[in-house]
Amino acid sequence: MDISVIGCGYLGAVHAASMAQLGHDVVGIEVDVPKAELLASGTAPFHEPGFETLLKDSLASGRLRFSSDMADAAGSQVHFVCVGTPQKRGEYAADLRYVESATESLTDVLAPGELVVGKSTVPVGTAARLAELVTGKVPGALLAWNPEFLREGFAVQDTLHPDRLVYGLPAGTDGDTARALLDEVYATIVADGTPQVVTDYATAEMVKTAANSFLATKISFINAMAELCEATGADVKQLADAIGYDDRIGRKFLNAGLGFGGGCLPKDIRAFMARAGELGADQALTFLREVDNINMRRRIRMVELAREVCDGSLLGKRIAVLGAAFKPDSDDIRDSPALNVAAQLQLQGATVRVTDPAANENIRRSWPQLEVVETAEEAAHRADAVLVLTEWKQFRELDPVAFGQVVARKAVLDGRQALDRDTWVAAGWSYRALGRRAG
Ligand code: UDX
Repeated sequence: MDISVIGCGYLGAVHAASMAQLGHDVVGIEVDVPKAELLASGTAPFHEPGFETLLKDSLASGRLRFSSDMADAAGSQVHFVCVGTPQKRGEYAADLRYVESATESLTDVLAPGELVVGKSTVPVGTAARLAELVTGKVPGALLAWNPEFLREGFAVQDTLHPDRLVYGLPAGTDGDTARALLDEVYATIVADGTPQVVTDYATAEMVKTAANSFLATKISFINAMAELCEATGADVKQLADAIGYDDRIGRKFLNAGLGFGGGCLPKDIRAFMARAGELGADQALTFLREVDNINMRRRIRMVELAREVCDGSLLGKRIAVLGAAFKPDSDDIRDSPALNVAAQLQLQGATVRVTDPAANENIRRSWPQLEVVETAEEAAHRADAVLVLTEWKQFRELDPVAFGQVVARKAVLDGRQALDRDTWVAAGWSYRALGRRAG
Protein backbone atom coordinates (compact mmCIF):
# COMPACT_ATOMS: atom_id res chain seq x y z
CA MET A 1 0.00 0.00 0.00
CA ASP A 2 1.01 3.65 -0.33
CA ILE A 3 1.32 5.04 3.18
CA SER A 4 2.30 8.41 4.61
CA VAL A 5 3.51 8.97 8.16
CA ILE A 6 3.08 12.54 9.39
CA GLY A 7 5.63 13.43 12.07
CA CYS A 8 8.88 11.46 12.24
CA GLY A 9 9.87 11.74 15.88
CA TYR A 10 10.38 8.62 17.94
CA LEU A 11 7.02 7.08 17.16
CA GLY A 12 6.71 8.20 13.55
CA ALA A 13 10.23 7.36 12.41
CA VAL A 14 10.01 3.83 13.83
CA HIS A 15 6.51 3.41 12.43
CA ALA A 16 7.52 4.60 8.95
CA ALA A 17 10.53 2.27 8.75
CA SER A 18 8.49 -0.62 10.14
CA MET A 19 5.68 -0.13 7.62
CA ALA A 20 8.25 -0.20 4.79
CA GLN A 21 9.65 -3.39 6.33
CA LEU A 22 6.13 -4.89 6.11
CA GLY A 23 6.26 -4.26 2.34
CA HIS A 24 4.47 -0.91 1.98
CA ASP A 25 5.64 2.17 0.07
CA VAL A 26 6.09 4.79 2.73
CA VAL A 27 6.74 8.51 2.76
CA GLY A 28 7.64 10.07 6.11
CA ILE A 29 6.70 13.74 6.39
CA GLU A 30 8.81 15.67 8.89
CA VAL A 31 8.66 19.48 9.11
CA ASP A 32 12.06 19.68 10.80
CA VAL A 33 14.23 19.75 7.64
CA PRO A 34 17.56 18.67 9.24
CA LYS A 35 15.78 15.75 10.91
CA ALA A 36 14.14 14.68 7.63
CA GLU A 37 17.54 14.87 5.90
CA LEU A 38 19.19 12.86 8.65
CA LEU A 39 16.56 10.14 8.36
CA ALA A 40 16.82 10.16 4.57
CA SER A 41 20.58 9.63 4.88
CA GLY A 42 19.97 6.52 7.01
CA THR A 43 21.06 8.05 10.31
CA ALA A 44 18.91 7.63 13.40
CA PRO A 45 18.32 10.98 15.17
CA PHE A 46 17.94 9.11 18.49
CA HIS A 47 19.36 6.05 20.20
CA GLU A 48 17.12 3.02 19.70
CA PRO A 49 18.47 -0.52 19.39
CA GLY A 50 17.83 -2.00 15.92
CA PHE A 51 16.29 1.15 14.49
CA GLU A 52 19.19 2.40 12.36
CA THR A 53 19.58 -1.01 10.69
CA LEU A 54 15.86 -1.13 9.97
CA LEU A 55 15.99 2.43 8.61
CA LYS A 56 18.94 1.67 6.31
CA ASP A 57 17.33 -1.58 5.08
CA SER A 58 14.03 0.16 4.37
CA LEU A 59 15.75 3.04 2.51
CA ALA A 60 17.84 0.57 0.49
CA SER A 61 14.70 -1.35 -0.49
CA GLY A 62 13.42 1.85 -2.14
CA ARG A 63 10.17 1.61 -0.17
CA LEU A 64 10.92 4.43 2.28
CA ARG A 65 11.59 8.10 1.69
CA PHE A 66 11.35 11.27 3.72
CA SER A 67 10.15 14.75 2.85
CA SER A 68 9.36 18.03 4.58
CA ASP A 69 6.56 18.87 2.20
CA MET A 70 3.05 17.73 3.09
CA ALA A 71 2.24 17.69 -0.65
CA ASP A 72 4.26 14.45 -0.82
CA ALA A 73 1.60 12.73 1.31
CA ALA A 74 -0.86 13.14 -1.55
CA GLY A 75 -1.95 9.88 -3.11
CA SER A 76 -1.31 7.67 -0.09
CA GLN A 77 -4.23 5.41 0.82
CA VAL A 78 -3.49 5.59 4.54
CA HIS A 79 -1.99 8.54 6.47
CA PHE A 80 -0.67 7.95 9.97
CA VAL A 81 -0.57 10.98 12.28
CA CYS A 82 2.36 10.45 14.67
CA VAL A 83 3.13 13.94 16.00
CA GLY A 84 3.79 14.68 19.68
CA THR A 85 1.29 15.68 22.36
CA PRO A 86 3.52 17.22 25.05
CA GLN A 87 2.33 18.60 28.37
CA LYS A 88 1.19 22.23 28.13
CA ARG A 89 3.53 24.67 29.82
CA GLY A 90 2.30 25.36 33.36
CA GLU A 91 -0.70 23.04 33.02
CA TYR A 92 -1.47 19.34 33.30
CA ALA A 93 -3.35 19.16 30.01
CA ALA A 94 -1.88 17.87 26.74
CA ASP A 95 -0.92 20.39 24.07
CA LEU A 96 -2.85 19.34 20.99
CA ARG A 97 -1.66 22.03 18.63
CA TYR A 98 0.67 19.71 16.66
CA VAL A 99 -2.00 17.03 16.16
CA GLU A 100 -4.50 19.66 15.12
CA SER A 101 -2.23 21.48 12.70
CA ALA A 102 -0.88 18.24 11.18
CA THR A 103 -4.42 16.97 10.56
CA GLU A 104 -5.51 20.34 9.25
CA SER A 105 -2.70 20.58 6.71
CA LEU A 106 -3.15 16.93 5.77
CA THR A 107 -6.73 17.71 4.71
CA ASP A 108 -5.30 19.96 1.96
CA VAL A 109 -3.90 16.92 0.16
CA LEU A 110 -6.40 14.29 1.29
CA ALA A 111 -8.80 12.62 -1.17
CA PRO A 112 -12.13 10.83 -0.62
CA GLY A 113 -11.70 7.16 0.30
CA GLU A 114 -8.36 7.77 2.03
CA LEU A 115 -7.92 6.95 5.70
CA VAL A 116 -6.35 9.19 8.36
CA VAL A 117 -5.09 7.12 11.31
CA GLY A 118 -4.27 8.86 14.59
CA LYS A 119 -1.49 7.17 16.58
CA SER A 120 -0.57 9.99 18.97
CA THR A 121 -1.68 9.76 22.61
CA VAL A 122 -4.60 12.19 22.92
CA PRO A 123 -7.26 13.13 25.47
CA VAL A 124 -10.49 11.21 25.00
CA GLY A 125 -12.79 13.13 22.64
CA THR A 126 -10.03 14.31 20.30
CA ALA A 127 -10.65 11.69 17.59
CA ALA A 128 -14.34 12.58 17.30
CA ARG A 129 -13.40 16.24 16.90
CA LEU A 130 -10.73 15.50 14.30
CA ALA A 131 -13.12 13.20 12.41
CA GLU A 132 -15.49 16.16 12.01
CA LEU A 133 -12.63 18.29 10.74
CA VAL A 134 -11.50 15.62 8.25
CA THR A 135 -14.91 14.69 6.87
CA GLY A 136 -16.01 18.34 6.92
CA LYS A 137 -13.16 19.33 4.64
CA VAL A 138 -12.91 16.15 2.59
CA PRO A 139 -16.27 14.34 2.37
CA GLY A 140 -15.68 10.63 1.88
CA ALA A 141 -12.35 10.62 3.74
CA LEU A 142 -12.20 8.51 6.93
CA LEU A 143 -10.55 8.69 10.33
CA ALA A 144 -9.54 5.89 12.71
CA TRP A 145 -7.69 5.92 16.04
CA ASN A 146 -5.02 3.28 16.44
CA PRO A 147 -2.95 3.92 19.59
CA GLU A 148 0.68 2.89 19.76
CA PHE A 149 2.16 1.14 22.80
CA LEU A 150 5.84 1.10 21.91
CA ARG A 151 8.41 1.23 24.66
CA GLU A 152 11.67 3.05 24.10
CA GLY A 153 14.49 0.54 23.87
CA PHE A 154 12.08 -2.00 22.33
CA ALA A 155 10.43 0.28 19.77
CA VAL A 156 11.12 -1.84 16.67
CA GLN A 157 10.07 -5.09 18.32
CA ASP A 158 6.92 -3.47 19.77
CA THR A 159 5.93 -2.00 16.37
CA LEU A 160 6.48 -5.16 14.34
CA HIS A 161 5.22 -7.57 17.02
CA PRO A 162 2.72 -5.65 19.16
CA ASP A 163 0.83 -7.29 22.05
CA ARG A 164 -2.43 -6.17 20.49
CA LEU A 165 -3.92 -3.97 17.78
CA VAL A 166 -6.54 -1.48 18.89
CA TYR A 167 -8.77 0.11 16.24
CA GLY A 168 -11.08 2.98 17.18
CA LEU A 169 -13.50 3.26 14.27
CA PRO A 170 -16.43 5.38 13.13
CA ALA A 171 -19.86 3.72 13.21
CA GLY A 172 -21.48 1.88 10.28
CA THR A 173 -20.02 1.07 6.88
CA ASP A 174 -17.32 3.75 7.25
CA GLY A 175 -16.07 1.69 10.17
CA ASP A 176 -16.01 -1.48 8.02
CA THR A 177 -14.05 0.31 5.29
CA ALA A 178 -11.57 1.73 7.79
CA ARG A 179 -11.12 -1.68 9.42
CA ALA A 180 -10.46 -3.35 6.07
CA LEU A 181 -7.79 -0.75 5.26
CA LEU A 182 -6.11 -1.17 8.66
CA ASP A 183 -6.18 -4.96 8.33
CA GLU A 184 -4.47 -4.60 4.96
CA VAL A 185 -1.78 -2.33 6.45
CA TYR A 186 -1.16 -4.78 9.30
CA ALA A 187 -1.76 -7.98 7.27
CA THR A 188 1.50 -9.59 8.46
CA ILE A 189 0.83 -8.70 12.08
CA VAL A 190 -2.78 -9.89 11.88
CA ALA A 191 -1.60 -13.17 10.29
CA ASP A 192 0.67 -13.70 13.32
CA GLY A 193 -2.51 -14.05 15.40
CA THR A 194 -2.07 -10.71 17.21
CA PRO A 195 -5.21 -10.01 19.27
CA GLN A 196 -7.38 -7.20 17.92
CA VAL A 197 -9.72 -4.93 19.82
CA VAL A 198 -12.12 -3.22 17.43
CA THR A 199 -14.01 -0.43 19.12
CA ASP A 200 -15.17 3.21 19.06
CA TYR A 201 -12.95 6.29 19.15
CA ALA A 202 -13.38 7.03 22.87
CA THR A 203 -12.45 3.51 24.00
CA ALA A 204 -9.41 3.39 21.71
CA GLU A 205 -8.16 6.71 23.05
CA MET A 206 -8.74 5.61 26.63
CA VAL A 207 -6.97 2.26 26.18
CA LYS A 208 -3.70 4.10 25.80
CA THR A 209 -4.06 6.47 28.74
CA ALA A 210 -5.51 3.71 30.94
CA ALA A 211 -2.58 1.39 30.11
CA ASN A 212 0.01 4.04 30.92
CA SER A 213 -1.84 5.02 34.11
CA PHE A 214 -1.89 1.40 35.22
CA LEU A 215 1.85 1.03 34.62
CA ALA A 216 2.58 4.27 36.48
CA THR A 217 0.36 3.13 39.35
CA LYS A 218 2.15 -0.21 39.56
CA ILE A 219 5.53 1.54 39.80
CA SER A 220 4.27 4.02 42.41
CA PHE A 221 2.66 1.19 44.37
CA ILE A 222 5.99 -0.58 44.81
CA ASN A 223 7.70 2.75 45.52
CA ALA A 224 5.14 3.44 48.26
CA MET A 225 6.03 0.01 49.66
CA ALA A 226 9.68 1.10 49.47
CA GLU A 227 8.85 4.10 51.68
CA LEU A 228 7.29 1.73 54.20
CA CYS A 229 10.26 -0.61 53.97
CA GLU A 230 12.51 2.33 54.78
CA ALA A 231 10.37 3.02 57.87
CA THR A 232 10.29 -0.61 59.02
CA GLY A 233 13.62 -2.07 57.97
CA ALA A 234 11.98 -4.44 55.48
CA ASP A 235 13.42 -5.10 52.00
CA VAL A 236 11.39 -3.93 49.00
CA LYS A 237 13.21 -6.11 46.47
CA GLN A 238 12.33 -9.29 48.30
CA LEU A 239 8.83 -7.97 48.86
CA ALA A 240 8.42 -7.39 45.09
CA ASP A 241 9.79 -10.86 44.30
CA ALA A 242 7.40 -12.45 46.76
CA ILE A 243 4.23 -10.66 45.66
CA GLY A 244 5.29 -10.95 42.01
CA TYR A 245 5.13 -14.76 42.16
CA ASP A 246 1.36 -14.36 42.33
CA ASP A 247 0.58 -14.26 38.64
CA ARG A 248 -2.44 -12.06 39.25
CA ILE A 249 0.09 -9.44 40.35
CA GLY A 250 3.16 -10.34 38.25
CA ARG A 251 6.75 -9.21 38.79
CA LYS A 252 6.97 -6.83 35.82
CA PHE A 253 6.92 -3.10 36.60
CA LEU A 254 7.52 -3.77 40.28
CA ASN A 255 11.08 -2.49 40.30
CA ALA A 256 11.30 0.01 43.11
CA GLY A 257 13.77 2.83 42.77
CA LEU A 258 13.88 6.34 41.40
CA GLY A 259 10.52 5.97 39.70
CA PHE A 260 9.21 6.74 36.25
CA GLY A 261 10.22 9.50 33.87
CA GLY A 262 10.37 9.95 30.12
CA GLY A 263 8.17 11.50 27.51
CA CYS A 264 5.08 9.35 28.19
CA LEU A 265 4.06 8.16 31.66
CA PRO A 266 4.43 11.48 33.55
CA LYS A 267 2.67 13.65 30.99
CA ASP A 268 0.06 11.02 30.13
CA ILE A 269 -1.20 10.60 33.69
CA ARG A 270 -1.35 14.38 34.09
CA ALA A 271 -3.24 14.86 30.83
CA PHE A 272 -5.63 12.06 31.85
CA MET A 273 -6.38 13.87 35.14
CA ALA A 274 -6.89 17.16 33.32
CA ARG A 275 -9.30 15.56 30.86
CA ALA A 276 -11.23 13.82 33.65
CA GLY A 277 -11.64 17.24 35.27
CA GLU A 278 -13.05 18.72 32.07
CA LEU A 279 -15.49 15.83 31.90
CA GLY A 280 -16.63 16.36 35.51
CA ALA A 281 -15.15 13.00 36.51
CA ASP A 282 -12.02 14.24 38.28
CA GLN A 283 -12.73 12.19 41.42
CA ALA A 284 -12.20 9.01 39.43
CA LEU A 285 -8.57 9.92 38.86
CA THR A 286 -7.54 11.75 42.03
CA PHE A 287 -5.48 8.67 42.91
CA LEU A 288 -3.20 9.52 39.97
CA ARG A 289 -2.19 12.70 41.77
CA GLU A 290 -0.90 10.48 44.57
CA VAL A 291 0.83 8.24 42.00
CA ASP A 292 2.61 11.35 40.70
CA ASN A 293 3.46 12.55 44.23
CA ILE A 294 4.93 9.20 45.28
CA ASN A 295 6.98 9.22 42.11
CA MET A 296 8.39 12.71 42.69
CA ARG A 297 9.14 11.95 46.38
CA ARG A 298 11.58 9.22 45.34
CA ARG A 299 13.83 11.81 43.74
CA ILE A 300 13.85 13.90 46.92
CA ARG A 301 14.59 10.80 49.01
CA MET A 302 17.54 9.94 46.77
CA VAL A 303 19.06 13.37 47.38
CA GLU A 304 18.52 12.92 51.15
CA LEU A 305 20.20 9.53 51.02
CA ALA A 306 23.18 11.06 49.22
CA ARG A 307 23.40 13.73 51.91
CA GLU A 308 23.30 11.08 54.65
CA VAL A 309 26.09 9.15 52.96
CA CYS A 310 28.11 12.40 52.73
CA ASP A 311 28.01 12.87 56.53
CA GLY A 312 25.08 15.26 56.53
CA SER A 313 26.33 17.89 54.07
CA LEU A 314 26.68 17.93 50.30
CA LEU A 315 28.73 21.11 50.28
CA GLY A 316 32.01 20.53 48.46
CA LYS A 317 31.43 16.76 48.13
CA ARG A 318 32.28 15.04 44.86
CA ILE A 319 29.47 12.91 43.53
CA ALA A 320 29.46 10.62 40.51
CA VAL A 321 26.11 10.14 38.77
CA LEU A 322 26.06 7.08 36.54
CA GLY A 323 23.16 7.24 34.10
CA ALA A 324 21.09 10.17 32.88
CA ALA A 325 18.62 8.74 30.36
CA PHE A 326 15.17 8.07 31.85
CA LYS A 327 15.77 4.36 31.19
CA PRO A 328 18.59 2.22 29.77
CA ASP A 329 19.03 1.69 26.00
CA SER A 330 17.71 5.16 25.32
CA ASP A 331 19.25 8.63 24.99
CA ASP A 332 15.97 10.25 26.04
CA ILE A 333 16.40 12.65 28.96
CA ARG A 334 12.86 14.05 29.01
CA ASP A 335 11.69 14.21 32.64
CA SER A 336 14.68 12.13 33.64
CA PRO A 337 14.67 11.25 37.35
CA ALA A 338 18.46 10.85 37.22
CA LEU A 339 19.08 14.38 35.91
CA ASN A 340 16.60 15.81 38.39
CA VAL A 341 18.62 14.26 41.22
CA ALA A 342 21.96 15.34 39.69
CA ALA A 343 20.78 18.95 39.38
CA GLN A 344 19.48 18.98 42.98
CA LEU A 345 22.77 17.64 44.31
CA GLN A 346 24.65 20.34 42.45
CA LEU A 347 22.26 23.04 43.70
CA GLN A 348 22.94 21.87 47.24
CA GLY A 349 26.67 22.41 46.81
CA ALA A 350 28.02 19.09 45.57
CA THR A 351 30.43 18.83 42.65
CA VAL A 352 28.59 16.47 40.33
CA ARG A 353 30.00 14.54 37.39
CA VAL A 354 27.49 12.77 35.19
CA THR A 355 28.00 10.12 32.55
CA ASP A 356 25.64 8.15 30.35
CA PRO A 357 26.46 5.65 27.58
CA ALA A 358 24.09 7.33 25.09
CA ALA A 359 22.71 10.59 26.45
CA ASN A 360 25.88 12.65 27.06
CA GLU A 361 25.34 14.89 24.04
CA ASN A 362 21.72 15.52 25.01
CA ILE A 363 22.74 16.40 28.59
CA ARG A 364 25.34 18.88 27.34
CA ARG A 365 22.72 20.53 25.17
CA SER A 366 19.91 20.71 27.71
CA TRP A 367 21.76 20.86 31.03
CA PRO A 368 24.91 22.93 30.31
CA GLN A 369 25.40 23.55 34.03
CA LEU A 370 26.25 19.87 34.66
CA GLU A 371 29.74 18.46 34.13
CA VAL A 372 29.51 15.54 31.72
CA VAL A 373 32.28 12.97 31.30
CA GLU A 374 32.72 9.95 29.06
CA THR A 375 33.29 7.05 31.44
CA ALA A 376 32.12 5.79 34.82
CA GLU A 377 35.75 5.86 36.02
CA GLU A 378 36.16 9.54 35.10
CA ALA A 379 32.88 10.38 36.84
CA ALA A 380 33.94 8.49 39.95
CA HIS A 381 37.49 9.86 40.15
CA ARG A 382 38.04 10.75 43.83
CA ALA A 383 34.29 10.73 44.43
CA ASP A 384 32.79 10.73 47.92
CA ALA A 385 29.73 8.85 46.64
CA VAL A 386 28.69 7.04 43.47
CA LEU A 387 25.02 7.09 42.45
CA VAL A 388 23.72 4.59 39.90
CA LEU A 389 20.59 6.26 38.57
CA THR A 390 19.92 4.48 35.25
CA GLU A 391 20.44 0.73 35.07
CA TRP A 392 22.60 0.49 31.96
CA LYS A 393 24.29 -2.89 31.47
CA GLN A 394 27.70 -1.12 31.60
CA PHE A 395 26.99 -0.01 35.16
CA ARG A 396 25.40 -3.27 36.28
CA GLU A 397 28.56 -5.05 35.18
CA LEU A 398 31.06 -2.73 36.88
CA ASP A 399 33.71 -4.60 38.84
CA PRO A 400 33.41 -3.23 42.38
CA VAL A 401 37.01 -4.18 43.22
CA ALA A 402 38.64 -2.30 40.33
CA PHE A 403 36.11 0.53 40.53
CA GLY A 404 36.90 0.92 44.23
CA GLN A 405 40.42 2.05 43.27
CA VAL A 406 39.26 5.29 41.64
CA VAL A 407 36.97 6.71 44.33
CA ALA A 408 37.84 8.62 47.49
CA ARG A 409 35.21 6.72 49.51
CA LYS A 410 33.60 3.43 48.61
CA ALA A 411 29.99 4.54 49.01
CA VAL A 412 27.49 3.48 46.38
CA LEU A 413 23.81 4.43 46.13
CA ASP A 414 21.84 2.15 43.89
CA GLY A 415 18.85 4.10 42.59
CA ARG A 416 17.63 1.29 40.33
CA GLN A 417 18.49 -1.91 42.20
CA ALA A 418 20.97 -2.50 39.45
CA LEU A 419 23.88 -3.85 41.49
CA ASP A 420 24.44 -7.04 43.39
CA ARG A 421 24.58 -5.79 46.97
CA ASP A 422 26.59 -8.70 48.35
CA THR A 423 29.38 -8.42 45.74
CA TRP A 424 29.75 -4.70 46.34
CA VAL A 425 29.71 -5.09 50.11
CA ALA A 426 32.27 -7.90 49.85
CA ALA A 427 34.50 -5.50 47.88
CA GLY A 428 34.40 -3.07 50.81
CA TRP A 429 31.68 -0.71 49.61
CA SER A 430 28.90 0.69 51.75
CA TYR A 431 25.71 0.02 49.79
CA ARG A 432 22.49 2.03 50.05
CA ALA A 433 19.32 1.70 47.99
CA LEU A 434 15.81 3.07 48.22
CA GLY A 435 13.63 0.69 50.22
CA ARG A 436 16.47 -1.63 51.17
CA ARG A 437 18.58 -2.14 54.26
CA ALA A 438 22.02 -0.57 54.21
CA GLY A 439 24.80 -3.00 53.36
C1 UDX B 1 5.81 3.71 28.23
C2 UDX B 1 4.88 2.49 28.07
O1 UDX B 1 5.52 1.36 28.69
C3 UDX B 1 4.60 2.23 26.60
O2 UDX B 1 3.69 1.15 26.46
C4 UDX B 1 3.99 3.50 26.02
O3 UDX B 1 3.73 3.31 24.63
C5 UDX B 1 4.92 4.68 26.22
O4 UDX B 1 5.21 4.84 27.60
P1 UDX B 1 8.43 4.13 27.93
O5 UDX B 1 8.17 5.56 28.24
O6 UDX B 1 9.35 3.77 26.82
O7 UDX B 1 7.06 3.37 27.62
O8 UDX B 1 9.05 3.50 29.26
P2 UDX B 1 8.70 2.33 30.29
O9 UDX B 1 9.47 1.11 29.97
O10 UDX B 1 7.24 2.19 30.49
O11 UDX B 1 9.35 2.94 31.61
C6 UDX B 1 8.91 4.21 32.11
C7 UDX B 1 9.67 4.61 33.32
O12 UDX B 1 9.33 3.78 34.42
C8 UDX B 1 11.20 4.54 33.22
O13 UDX B 1 11.72 5.74 33.79
C9 UDX B 1 11.56 3.33 34.02
O14 UDX B 1 12.85 3.43 34.57
C10 UDX B 1 10.50 3.33 35.10
N1 UDX B 1 10.22 2.01 35.67
C11 UDX B 1 9.77 0.99 34.88
C12 UDX B 1 10.39 1.81 37.04
O15 UDX B 1 10.78 2.72 37.78
N2 UDX B 1 10.10 0.58 37.56
C13 UDX B 1 9.67 -0.46 36.79
O16 UDX B 1 9.43 -1.54 37.35
C14 UDX B 1 9.49 -0.24 35.42
